[in-house]
Amino acid sequence: MIVVMDQTSAPELAEDVAAALRAEDMQVLRSRCHGRAHLISTGTAPRGLAERIRPLPGVESVVDTEDALRFTGRAYQRADTVVDVAGVPIGGPAFVVVAGPCAVENRAQMGDSAHGVALAGGAILRGGAYKPRTSPYSFQGLGRAGLRLLAEQREVTGLPIITEVLDVADLDDVLEVADILQVGTRNMSNATLLRAIGRSGRPVLLKRGMAATIEEWLLAAEYILSEGNPDVVLCERGIRTFEPATRFTLDLSAVAAVRRISHLPVIVDPSHAAGRTDLVRPLALAAAAVGADGIMIDIHPDAATALCDAGQALHPKELAELTADLGRLLTATGRVLA
Ligand code: E4P
Ligand code: PEP
Repeated sequence: MIVVMDQTSAPELAEDVAAALRAEDMQVLRSRCHGRAHLISTGTAPRGLAERIRPLPGVESVVDTEDALRFTGRAYQRADTVVDVAGVPIGGPAFVVVAGPCAVENRAQMGDSAHGVALAGGAILRGGAYKPRTSPYSFQGLGRAGLRLLAEQREVTGLPIITEVLDVADLDDVLEVADILQVGTRNMSNATLLRAIGRSGRPVLLKRGMAATIEEWLLAAEYILSEGNPDVVLCERGIRTFEPATRFTLDLSAVAAVRRISHLPVIVDPSHAAGRTDLVRPLALAAAAVGADGIMIDIHPDAATALCDAGQALHPKELAELTADLGRLLTATGRVLA
Protein backbone atom coordinates (compact mmCIF):
# COMPACT_ATOMS: atom_id res chain seq x y z
CA MET A 1 0.00 0.00 0.00
CA ILE A 2 1.16 3.55 -0.72
CA VAL A 3 -0.33 6.43 1.21
CA VAL A 4 0.17 9.76 -0.56
CA MET A 5 -0.05 12.75 1.78
CA ASP A 6 -1.50 16.05 0.67
CA GLN A 7 1.18 18.51 -0.51
CA THR A 8 0.19 21.07 2.13
CA SER A 9 -0.37 18.65 5.02
CA ALA A 10 1.70 19.10 8.18
CA PRO A 11 4.49 16.51 8.72
CA GLU A 12 2.83 15.45 12.01
CA LEU A 13 -0.15 14.14 10.04
CA ALA A 14 2.15 11.79 8.12
CA GLU A 15 3.47 10.63 11.51
CA ASP A 16 -0.07 9.88 12.65
CA VAL A 17 -0.75 7.86 9.50
CA ALA A 18 2.53 5.96 9.92
CA ALA A 19 1.53 5.17 13.51
CA ALA A 20 -1.87 3.93 12.33
CA LEU A 21 -0.16 1.61 9.83
CA ARG A 22 2.31 0.33 12.43
CA ALA A 23 -0.57 -0.34 14.80
CA GLU A 24 -1.79 -2.82 12.17
CA ASP A 25 1.62 -4.56 12.17
CA MET A 26 2.74 -2.95 8.92
CA GLN A 27 6.30 -1.77 8.40
CA VAL A 28 6.49 1.74 6.95
CA LEU A 29 9.06 3.22 4.55
CA ARG A 30 9.05 7.00 4.02
CA SER A 31 9.66 8.74 0.71
CA ARG A 32 8.92 11.99 -1.10
CA CYS A 33 7.77 12.05 -4.68
CA HIS A 34 6.19 14.83 -6.78
CA GLY A 35 6.49 17.12 -3.72
CA ARG A 36 4.33 14.85 -1.55
CA ALA A 37 5.24 12.65 1.40
CA HIS A 38 4.68 8.97 0.62
CA LEU A 39 4.28 6.21 3.19
CA ILE A 40 4.98 2.80 1.73
CA SER A 41 3.81 -0.10 3.81
CA THR A 42 5.41 -3.51 3.49
CA GLY A 43 3.82 -6.72 4.59
CA THR A 44 0.32 -7.99 3.97
CA ALA A 45 -2.31 -5.38 4.75
CA PRO A 46 -5.27 -6.61 6.82
CA ARG A 47 -8.64 -6.44 5.06
CA GLY A 48 -10.20 -2.99 4.98
CA LEU A 49 -7.02 -1.15 6.02
CA ALA A 50 -7.05 1.12 2.95
CA GLU A 51 -10.62 2.16 3.77
CA ARG A 52 -9.60 3.01 7.34
CA ILE A 53 -6.54 5.03 6.25
CA ARG A 54 -8.18 6.98 3.40
CA PRO A 55 -10.28 9.35 5.58
CA LEU A 56 -7.41 10.22 7.97
CA PRO A 57 -6.44 13.92 8.05
CA GLY A 58 -3.82 14.91 5.46
CA VAL A 59 -4.24 11.80 3.29
CA GLU A 60 -4.59 12.67 -0.40
CA SER A 61 -4.89 9.14 -1.79
CA VAL A 62 -4.21 5.51 -1.00
CA VAL A 63 -2.90 3.14 -3.66
CA ASP A 64 -4.13 -0.19 -2.37
CA THR A 65 -1.55 -2.46 -3.94
CA GLU A 66 0.34 -5.43 -2.59
CA ASP A 67 2.10 -5.53 -5.91
CA ALA A 68 5.89 -5.43 -5.63
CA LEU A 69 5.80 -2.84 -8.44
CA ARG A 70 4.36 -0.23 -6.11
CA PHE A 71 5.67 2.88 -7.88
CA THR A 72 6.49 1.61 -11.36
CA GLY A 73 3.16 -0.14 -11.96
CA ARG A 74 0.16 1.40 -13.66
CA ALA A 75 -1.84 0.91 -10.44
CA TYR A 76 0.19 3.80 -8.97
CA GLN A 77 -0.06 5.96 -12.07
CA ARG A 78 -2.17 5.29 -15.13
CA ALA A 79 -0.81 8.11 -17.31
CA ASP A 80 2.57 7.74 -19.00
CA THR A 81 5.44 9.44 -17.20
CA VAL A 82 7.25 12.08 -19.19
CA VAL A 83 10.81 12.67 -17.97
CA ASP A 84 12.19 16.13 -18.64
CA VAL A 85 15.91 16.03 -19.42
CA ALA A 86 17.05 19.65 -19.51
CA GLY A 87 14.11 20.56 -21.73
CA VAL A 88 13.99 17.31 -23.75
CA PRO A 89 10.87 15.30 -22.87
CA ILE A 90 11.24 11.51 -22.89
CA GLY A 91 7.96 9.61 -22.85
CA GLY A 92 5.66 12.04 -24.64
CA PRO A 93 4.56 11.92 -28.27
CA ALA A 94 8.06 12.77 -29.55
CA PHE A 95 10.68 10.08 -30.21
CA VAL A 96 14.09 10.85 -28.73
CA VAL A 97 17.43 10.07 -30.36
CA VAL A 98 20.32 9.82 -27.91
CA ALA A 99 23.68 9.34 -29.59
CA GLY A 100 27.41 9.72 -29.16
CA PRO A 101 30.52 7.65 -28.72
CA CYS A 102 30.57 4.62 -26.48
CA ALA A 103 33.59 6.09 -24.69
CA VAL A 104 34.90 9.63 -24.50
CA GLU A 105 38.43 9.33 -25.92
CA ASN A 106 39.78 12.82 -26.64
CA ARG A 107 38.65 16.36 -27.51
CA ALA A 108 38.67 15.88 -31.30
CA GLN A 109 36.72 12.61 -31.21
CA MET A 110 34.18 14.07 -28.78
CA GLY A 111 33.87 17.29 -30.79
CA ASP A 112 33.32 15.49 -34.10
CA SER A 113 30.80 13.14 -32.48
CA ALA A 114 28.85 15.93 -30.79
CA HIS A 115 28.76 17.91 -34.04
CA GLY A 116 27.48 14.78 -35.84
CA VAL A 117 24.74 14.23 -33.25
CA ALA A 118 23.57 17.84 -33.48
CA LEU A 119 23.63 17.75 -37.30
CA ALA A 120 21.64 14.49 -37.37
CA GLY A 121 18.94 15.96 -35.14
CA GLY A 122 19.85 13.97 -32.04
CA ALA A 123 18.36 15.37 -28.83
CA ILE A 124 20.82 14.12 -26.18
CA LEU A 125 24.58 13.51 -26.35
CA ARG A 126 26.00 10.33 -24.85
CA GLY A 127 29.57 9.40 -23.96
CA GLY A 128 31.07 7.15 -21.33
CA ALA A 129 33.73 8.65 -19.06
CA TYR A 130 33.70 5.62 -16.75
CA LYS A 131 33.57 2.40 -18.76
CA PRO A 132 32.37 -0.91 -17.31
CA ARG A 133 34.66 -3.26 -19.24
CA THR A 134 34.62 -7.03 -19.17
CA SER A 135 38.39 -7.11 -18.84
CA PRO A 136 40.33 -4.99 -16.36
CA TYR A 137 42.99 -4.60 -19.08
CA SER A 138 40.63 -2.88 -21.55
CA PHE A 139 40.31 0.93 -21.75
CA GLN A 140 38.43 1.99 -18.62
CA GLY A 141 37.54 5.53 -19.69
CA LEU A 142 39.05 8.95 -19.01
CA GLY A 143 37.16 9.49 -15.76
CA ARG A 144 36.96 13.14 -14.70
CA ALA A 145 38.87 14.30 -17.79
CA GLY A 146 36.14 12.64 -19.86
CA LEU A 147 33.45 14.43 -17.88
CA ARG A 148 35.14 17.76 -18.67
CA LEU A 149 35.12 16.96 -22.40
CA LEU A 150 31.41 16.16 -22.20
CA ALA A 151 30.76 19.46 -20.41
CA GLU A 152 32.65 21.31 -23.17
CA GLN A 153 30.44 19.75 -25.82
CA ARG A 154 27.30 20.68 -23.96
CA GLU A 155 28.52 24.27 -24.09
CA VAL A 156 29.28 24.03 -27.80
CA THR A 157 26.15 22.19 -28.96
CA GLY A 158 23.60 22.92 -26.24
CA LEU A 159 22.77 19.20 -26.15
CA PRO A 160 21.97 17.69 -22.74
CA ILE A 161 24.47 15.05 -21.58
CA ILE A 162 23.96 11.44 -20.55
CA THR A 163 26.86 9.54 -19.03
CA GLU A 164 27.21 6.41 -16.95
CA VAL A 165 27.89 6.42 -13.23
CA LEU A 166 29.64 3.20 -12.25
CA ASP A 167 30.24 3.80 -8.60
CA VAL A 168 28.65 5.78 -5.77
CA ALA A 169 32.10 7.27 -5.15
CA ASP A 170 31.91 9.05 -8.55
CA LEU A 171 28.32 10.23 -8.23
CA ASP A 172 29.05 13.81 -7.16
CA ASP A 173 31.48 14.30 -10.05
CA VAL A 174 29.05 12.83 -12.57
CA LEU A 175 26.20 14.95 -11.20
CA GLU A 176 28.17 18.08 -12.09
CA VAL A 177 27.94 17.17 -15.77
CA ALA A 178 25.13 14.70 -16.43
CA ASP A 179 21.66 15.99 -17.24
CA ILE A 180 20.61 12.36 -17.03
CA LEU A 181 22.57 9.63 -15.26
CA GLN A 182 23.05 6.25 -16.89
CA VAL A 183 23.04 2.97 -14.97
CA GLY A 184 24.52 0.26 -17.14
CA THR A 185 23.49 -3.34 -17.56
CA ARG A 186 26.18 -4.54 -15.18
CA ASN A 187 24.95 -2.28 -12.37
CA MET A 188 21.21 -2.71 -12.78
CA SER A 189 20.96 -4.58 -9.51
CA ASN A 190 23.44 -2.53 -7.51
CA ALA A 191 20.99 -1.49 -4.79
CA THR A 192 23.43 0.92 -3.11
CA LEU A 193 24.01 2.81 -6.35
CA LEU A 194 20.30 2.81 -7.23
CA ARG A 195 19.37 4.23 -3.83
CA ALA A 196 22.02 6.95 -4.05
CA ILE A 197 20.79 7.92 -7.51
CA GLY A 198 17.24 7.92 -6.17
CA ARG A 199 18.27 10.40 -3.50
CA SER A 200 20.10 12.57 -6.04
CA GLY A 201 16.81 13.40 -7.76
CA ARG A 202 18.50 13.58 -11.19
CA PRO A 203 16.77 11.87 -14.16
CA VAL A 204 18.20 8.41 -14.77
CA LEU A 205 18.37 5.94 -17.62
CA LEU A 206 18.21 2.43 -16.19
CA LYS A 207 19.50 -0.19 -18.58
CA ARG A 208 18.15 -3.70 -18.32
CA GLY A 209 20.53 -6.23 -16.79
CA MET A 210 21.71 -8.56 -19.54
CA ALA A 211 20.24 -11.52 -17.64
CA ALA A 212 17.39 -9.74 -15.87
CA THR A 213 13.71 -10.53 -16.23
CA ILE A 214 11.33 -7.64 -16.86
CA GLU A 215 10.16 -7.86 -13.26
CA GLU A 216 13.73 -7.70 -11.90
CA TRP A 217 14.37 -4.66 -14.09
CA LEU A 218 11.26 -2.88 -12.82
CA LEU A 219 12.14 -3.78 -9.22
CA ALA A 220 15.51 -2.13 -9.80
CA ALA A 221 13.59 0.98 -10.89
CA GLU A 222 11.55 0.71 -7.66
CA TYR A 223 14.77 1.32 -5.70
CA ILE A 224 15.10 4.69 -7.42
CA LEU A 225 11.45 5.71 -7.28
CA SER A 226 10.99 4.65 -3.67
CA GLU A 227 13.81 7.04 -2.74
CA GLY A 228 11.69 9.85 -4.15
CA ASN A 229 13.04 10.15 -7.69
CA PRO A 230 10.22 9.67 -10.23
CA ASP A 231 12.37 10.50 -13.29
CA VAL A 232 13.36 7.06 -14.50
CA VAL A 233 13.69 6.08 -18.15
CA LEU A 234 14.10 2.36 -18.89
CA CYS A 235 16.42 1.10 -21.61
CA GLU A 236 16.19 -2.30 -23.29
CA ARG A 237 19.73 -3.16 -24.46
CA GLY A 238 19.58 -6.85 -25.24
CA ILE A 239 19.72 -9.97 -23.12
CA ARG A 240 21.91 -13.07 -23.11
CA THR A 241 20.45 -15.94 -25.07
CA PHE A 242 21.84 -19.02 -26.82
CA GLU A 243 22.11 -17.06 -30.12
CA PRO A 244 25.68 -16.04 -31.02
CA ALA A 245 24.87 -14.20 -34.28
CA THR A 246 24.39 -11.00 -32.33
CA ARG A 247 26.21 -9.80 -29.23
CA PHE A 248 22.95 -9.92 -27.23
CA THR A 249 19.36 -10.59 -28.29
CA LEU A 250 17.32 -7.41 -28.50
CA ASP A 251 14.11 -8.17 -26.64
CA LEU A 252 11.61 -5.93 -28.40
CA SER A 253 8.74 -7.80 -26.81
CA ALA A 254 9.97 -6.42 -23.49
CA VAL A 255 9.27 -2.89 -24.76
CA ALA A 256 5.66 -3.73 -25.57
CA ALA A 257 5.26 -5.67 -22.31
CA VAL A 258 6.78 -2.94 -20.11
CA ARG A 259 4.55 -0.30 -21.65
CA ARG A 260 1.55 -2.31 -20.47
CA ILE A 261 2.86 -2.93 -16.97
CA SER A 262 4.54 0.39 -16.25
CA HIS A 263 4.02 4.10 -16.85
CA LEU A 264 7.78 4.71 -17.22
CA PRO A 265 9.21 5.62 -20.63
CA VAL A 266 11.29 2.96 -22.42
CA ILE A 267 14.01 3.49 -24.97
CA VAL A 268 16.07 0.93 -26.90
CA ASP A 269 19.83 0.59 -27.42
CA PRO A 270 20.25 -1.42 -30.63
CA SER A 271 24.02 -0.77 -30.70
CA HIS A 272 24.93 -2.70 -27.57
CA ALA A 273 22.27 -5.32 -28.32
CA ALA A 274 23.45 -6.19 -31.82
CA GLY A 275 27.13 -5.35 -31.41
CA ARG A 276 27.14 -4.98 -35.22
CA THR A 277 26.80 -1.77 -37.21
CA ASP A 278 24.84 -3.46 -40.01
CA LEU A 279 21.97 -4.34 -37.65
CA VAL A 280 21.68 -1.00 -35.89
CA ARG A 281 19.41 0.64 -38.49
CA PRO A 282 16.81 -2.16 -38.80
CA LEU A 283 16.66 -2.64 -35.04
CA ALA A 284 16.34 1.11 -34.43
CA LEU A 285 13.42 1.28 -36.88
CA ALA A 286 11.85 -1.77 -35.23
CA ALA A 287 12.17 -0.05 -31.84
CA ALA A 288 10.24 2.94 -33.15
CA ALA A 289 7.62 0.65 -34.69
CA VAL A 290 7.09 -1.31 -31.47
CA GLY A 291 6.38 1.90 -29.55
CA ALA A 292 9.64 2.74 -27.81
CA ASP A 293 10.07 6.34 -26.67
CA GLY A 294 13.49 6.66 -28.23
CA ILE A 295 16.79 5.02 -29.08
CA MET A 296 20.39 5.28 -27.92
CA ILE A 297 23.00 4.88 -30.65
CA ASP A 298 26.79 4.53 -30.55
CA ILE A 299 28.63 6.64 -33.12
CA HIS A 300 32.33 7.30 -33.80
CA PRO A 301 34.03 9.52 -36.39
CA ASP A 302 36.60 6.77 -37.05
CA ALA A 303 35.24 3.49 -35.69
CA ALA A 304 38.34 1.52 -36.70
CA THR A 305 40.26 3.36 -33.98
CA ALA A 306 37.53 3.25 -31.29
CA LEU A 307 38.79 2.25 -27.85
CA CYS A 308 35.53 0.56 -26.94
CA ASP A 309 32.87 -1.34 -28.92
CA ALA A 310 34.35 -0.48 -32.33
CA GLY A 311 32.19 -3.06 -34.11
CA GLN A 312 28.88 -1.39 -33.36
CA ALA A 313 29.52 2.34 -33.92
CA LEU A 314 27.83 4.14 -36.81
CA HIS A 315 29.62 6.97 -38.59
CA PRO A 316 27.93 10.34 -37.86
CA LYS A 317 26.77 10.40 -41.52
CA GLU A 318 25.06 7.04 -41.01
CA LEU A 319 23.34 8.46 -37.94
CA ALA A 320 21.96 11.27 -40.08
CA GLU A 321 20.66 8.72 -42.62
CA LEU A 322 19.07 6.78 -39.78
CA THR A 323 17.31 9.82 -38.29
CA ALA A 324 15.97 10.70 -41.75
CA ASP A 325 14.54 7.16 -42.09
CA LEU A 326 13.15 7.35 -38.56
CA GLY A 327 11.48 10.66 -39.35
CA ARG A 328 9.60 9.04 -42.25
CA LEU A 329 8.56 6.03 -40.18
CA LEU A 330 7.43 8.19 -37.27
CA THR A 331 5.37 10.42 -39.54
CA ALA A 332 3.54 7.34 -40.78
CA THR A 333 2.67 6.44 -37.18
CA GLY A 334 1.63 9.97 -36.18
CA ARG A 335 4.75 10.73 -34.17
CA VAL A 336 7.72 13.06 -34.57
CA LEU A 337 11.40 13.20 -33.65
CA ALA A 338 12.07 15.17 -30.45
C1 E4P B 1 30.16 -0.51 -23.33
O1 E4P B 1 29.92 0.57 -23.33
C2 E4P B 1 30.74 -1.44 -22.42
O2 E4P B 1 31.73 -0.88 -21.68
C3 E4P B 1 31.19 -2.53 -23.27
O3 E4P B 1 30.12 -2.96 -24.06
C4 E4P B 1 31.83 -3.57 -22.46
O4 E4P B 1 32.16 -4.65 -23.24
P1 E4P B 1 33.61 -5.24 -23.34
O5 E4P B 1 34.45 -4.70 -22.24
O6 E4P B 1 33.38 -6.69 -23.27
O7 E4P B 1 34.17 -4.79 -24.66
C1 PEP C 1 26.94 1.95 -22.54
O1 PEP C 1 25.88 2.27 -23.07
O2 PEP C 1 27.94 2.67 -22.53
C2 PEP C 1 27.05 0.63 -21.90
C3 PEP C 1 28.08 0.32 -21.15
O3 PEP C 1 26.03 -0.18 -22.18
P1 PEP C 1 25.54 -1.47 -21.39
O4 PEP C 1 25.53 -1.12 -19.96
O5 PEP C 1 24.19 -1.70 -21.96
O6 PEP C 1 26.52 -2.54 -21.76
